[in-house]
Amino acid sequence: MYKRLEKKIKSRRAVVGIIGMGYVGLPLAVELGREGFKVVGIDIDSGRVSRINSGKSDIDDVADKDLRPLVKKGKISATADFSVLNQVDCVAICVPTPLSKTKDPDVSYILAGVSEVQEYLHPGQLVILESTTYPGTTEELILPMLEETGLEVGKDFFLAFSPERVDPGNEKYTTKNTPRVVGGITPQCTEIAKFFYEQTITRAVPLSSTKSAEMVKLLENTFRSVNIGLVNEVALMCDRLKIDVWEIIDAANTKPFGFMPFYPGPGLGGHCIPIDPHYLSWKLKSLNYYARFIELAGDINSRMPEYVVERINRALNRKKKSLKGSKILVLGVAYKRDIKDLRESPALDVMELLQIAGAEVEYSDPHVPSLGMDDSEMKSVRLTRKILQGSDCVAILTDHSAYDYDFIVRNAQLVMDTRNATKNVKKNREKIVKL
Ligand SMILES: NC(=O)c1ccc[n+]([C@@H]2O[C@H](COP(=O)([O-])OP(=O)(O)OC[C@H]3O[C@@H](n4cnc5c(N)ncnc54)[C@H](O)[C@@H]3O)[C@@H](O)[C@H]2O)c1
Repeated sequence: MYKRLEKKIKSRRAVVGIIGMGYVGLPLAVELGREGFKVVGIDIDSGRVSRINSGKSDIDDVADKDLRPLVKKGKISATADFSVLNQVDCVAICVPTPLSKTKDPDVSYILAGVSEVQEYLHPGQLVILESTTYPGTTEELILPMLEETGLEVGKDFFLAFSPERVDPGNEKYTTKNTPRVVGGITPQCTEIAKFFYEQTITRAVPLSSTKSAEMVKLLENTFRSVNIGLVNEVALMCDRLKIDVWEIIDAANTKPFGFMPFYPGPGLGGHCIPIDPHYLSWKLKSLNYYARFIELAGDINSRMPEYVVERINRALNRKKKSLKGSKILVLGVAYKRDIKDLRESPALDVMELLQIAGAEVEYSDPHVPSLGMDDSEMKSVRLTRKILQGSDCVAILTDHSAYDYDFIVRNAQLVMDTRNATKNVKKNREKIVKL
């Protein structure tokens, strides 16, 4: 089975199925399609399926001009019909792994995807989970489901975990040139999964088990969450000490070793950093271990929106104004620069807190034309002189590169800058309050 699958992959006769065609699945499909593989994306979102089939991408990192030719050539197609798995040799599962309301892992999307794979599992198939999850998921949840079919792992089919590491909006490091880590249930599973990725991705690093590969991803994202938590706390300390935290970080960063800069901000966003560490702490709780760093960083990071609102309040008070009744213009609602993704964006929390305090809130974001807040819909306003002049405070929550910061500061009455986006603005700096 191994040799046959290896040959099929090498000759590009292997058909690849990707379950979940979102931020992770679609870029992977494009890379594989470019390398000559026939890729079938399977997604329960029928709107997304038809958009992909007409060459339209929902994802910031995939341009229509890159997707459309591959769709036209028949290299990429999408469907909501899982029976195509019958013809698929390699399956990558890229479905969401959110948290439940009680902040526990919600692996229901993985289970739903795997139960479809189980139904169509056939000899010679390679199954890879890419969704971020807690250590043990592949071995403890997925393997038993697939072995229920009577097929044997490592012999009849191959099962591995390989976390996606995509950084949306990063033009330097993409799906293609970011090395992969790969851990299989058996050594052959690792080897064939590594071989599969190496057809298109620069490097695949083999690990001893699926559990190790799951843990690598959680270390990476916990590392970020904890360091951002630390630097957010340093920002709180600097505020009390009346020190500019941005100056401190830039100066520390002149040390050529032993320091890596992280920056404070209005809180964590996206589908990874605010969520993934909780997968690890949840698993550890079941082993009677309390993951202190994760909980502490989560606590500090999740309170940043409140802190931003407190700072806006303070700045308005200095001008003898109150939050209640003030007009606040929020700049940037996506969770990070130059993308449109709103998932877990702290800007939404800041806006909600401002509204609760009685402020009149509007927003402007070139990447997000509208957004749903509770039952209502808000539309991005055009960033004109008039709207800037008419706002009591302009709060920069996401530092998109499309903004003209000189123009913003020149026309605003007061600027709350949570990202140090105005660092190069020379004039009217007295209007700027930095986090
Ligand atoms: N977005 C990122 O930057 C990023 C980076 C690395 C890892 N990840 C991880 O990758 C996984 C996927 O994240 P994403 O950002 O691509 O999510 P996404 O929401 O952008 O895409 C997931 C897709 O899966 C589809 N889907 C849901 N259930 C399905 C099912 N049962 N069958 C078929 N399709 C289904 C959804 O309709 C959606 O199109 C998550 O575990 C995430 O933590 C995400």
